[in-house]
Amino acid sequence: MAIPNKVNSICCIGAGYVGGPTMAVIAQKCPHIRVTVVDINADRIAAWNDGDLENLPVYEPGLAEVVGEARGRNLFFTTQVEKAIQEAEMIFISVNTPTKMYGIGKGKAADLKYVELCARQIAKCANGDKIVVEKSTLPVRTAESVKRILEAEESNHSFAILSNPEFLAEGTAVKDLHRPDRMLIGGEQTEEGRRAINALVEVYANWIPRERLLTTKVWSSELSKLTANAFLAQRVSSINAISALCEKTGADVDEVANAIGTDSRIGSKFLKSSVGFGGSCFQKDILNLVYLCHHFGLPEVAEYWEQVVKMNDYQKHRFAKQVIDTLFNTVSGKKITFLGWAFKKDTNDTRESAAIYVAHELLQDQAEIHVYDPKVKEEQIISDIEYLLKNPSGYASSALPENWRELVVVYREPVMALKRAHAIAVLTEWDEFAEYDWQSVYKEMYKPAFVFDGRNILDGEQMRQIGFEYKGIGKGE
Ligand code: NAD
Ligand code: UGA
Repeated sequence: MAIPNKVNSICCIGAGYVGGPTMAVIAQKCPHIRVTVVDINADRIAAWNDGDLENLPVYEPGLAEVVGEARGRNLFFTTQVEKAIQEAEMIFISVNTPTKMYGIGKGKAADLKYVELCARQIAKCANGDKIVVEKSTLPVRTAESVKRILEAEESNHSFAILSNPEFLAEGTAVKDLHRPDRMLIGGEQTEEGRRAINALVEVYANWIPRERLLTTKVWSSELSKLTANAFLAQRVSSINAISALCEKTGADVDEVANAIGTDSRIGSKFLKSSVGFGGSCFQKDILNLVYLCHHFGLPEVAEYWEQVVKMNDYQKHRFAKQVIDTLFNTVSGKKITFLGWAFKKDTNDTRESAAIYVAHELLQDQAEIHVYDPKVKEEQIISDIEYLLKNPSGYASSALPENWRELVVVYREPVMALKRAHAIAVLTEWDEFAEYDWQSVYKEMYKPAFVFDGRNILDGEQMRQIGFEYKGIGKGE
């Protein structure tokens, strides 16, 4: 046997936000390839297999249709990791790579224990030559470690390692997977490496134009992923930094963003000022980049990128502080309604959502936090607050009032969440928030009725006409 240059069977380890949707689209677009997604989390696998497509563990517009088309045909979800590895010619590693919370590199480096466990498991049970694809976001030169682990087991099998980072954004995952700007494949410049690259190119070429399939050295591919996220997050922090200046000077950040975005060298995307970026990756990937720069003796480069995260912490803190300052310097005993908890619209993912940090700061001041999010469940909201309590970071300290649990109320409908509120904070840009009957909301609130629009999705002028004390981000008065 040799490394194949065309594959008929794929296994993906990790059925999360990336593994699930990515493999569902591969299966949809390549009916001739058998795709098996495995996970050690049995509940997650059961949810992927749920007869009711509404219950899939990941909410993404259009995903249920894709899963519905391929599941049971050539797309399978199972906890039988070993069997799936043995049956596959190509194995994707799509497990989580969170920030390390212990030991050397604590708070910055990527924790690669899950990736290492996958490599060991593949090495242990491989029954032939395999192509191993890094889909998880990894520090540059991880492929080297993966290869060493795979080759440490004494067997006659060969392994080719590819780096194929994922660039999908949550909320638009299916669209991004169907029509990616590019698909990046890094591989070794050897005979085996080239065969492996070709095998993966052939998979994606089933629906992605060949000119969008970029092939590079492994190290370039690994580093490009961290760099892309760092650049994107940097744009958000840059416009958020300007939003603070707008508020002081009477400028309007959306007008500034529009004015600079029309310059084709700058471009208009990713210039939406907000309460701060969230999501599982921006912060962790930048911190990982910072760690790598220190590791390679580049402290000035490390400091440069770390500032992107610091500015984001500052933006979340600035928002919370503005709520407290505006409500006469205390929110104790006041009902603050949070519209949105997810880190962006059209996803049920809450990882690193700005809402969690703002809630913490307001709870420290003994506010009552009343939350409505169309897709996030109560257990998730409570566990997010508990997690930050155990792992304080940024401006969120560990000190919450002992009775904090009683201060957090979660609703399944917006009406009661908004009734008799002292203030409303928009934390996620769900479309439905802009469509509420704000006149009726106003009538039911305590006066003065404050609205803090952390996403600038409401019409400030109209809100003021209704009678609200409206504050947007970067909207100088
Ligand atoms: P996730 O936490 O949603 O999913 C990871 C899954 O891997 C979990 O279900 C976990 O149970 C499983 N897992 C861990 N170890 C395992 C093992 N040994 N065997 C089997 N299953 C195992 O994570 P995610 O959001 O899908 O992210 C995965 C990777 O993709 C990360 O490196 C992330 O940085 C990267 N990424 C994420 C996104 C995104 O939008 N979420 C986008 C691009 C890249
Ligand atoms: C981001 C990248 O966009 C993806 O390319 C990448 O694959 C992914 O991270 C990853 O590696 O996990 P994602 O975090 O899902 O995707 O969503 P984004 O649309 O990038 O938004 C991230 C955060 O920035 C959100 O909180 C969003 O509200 C915020 N944001 C984004 C702004 O505040 N302003 C903007 O102009 C854009």
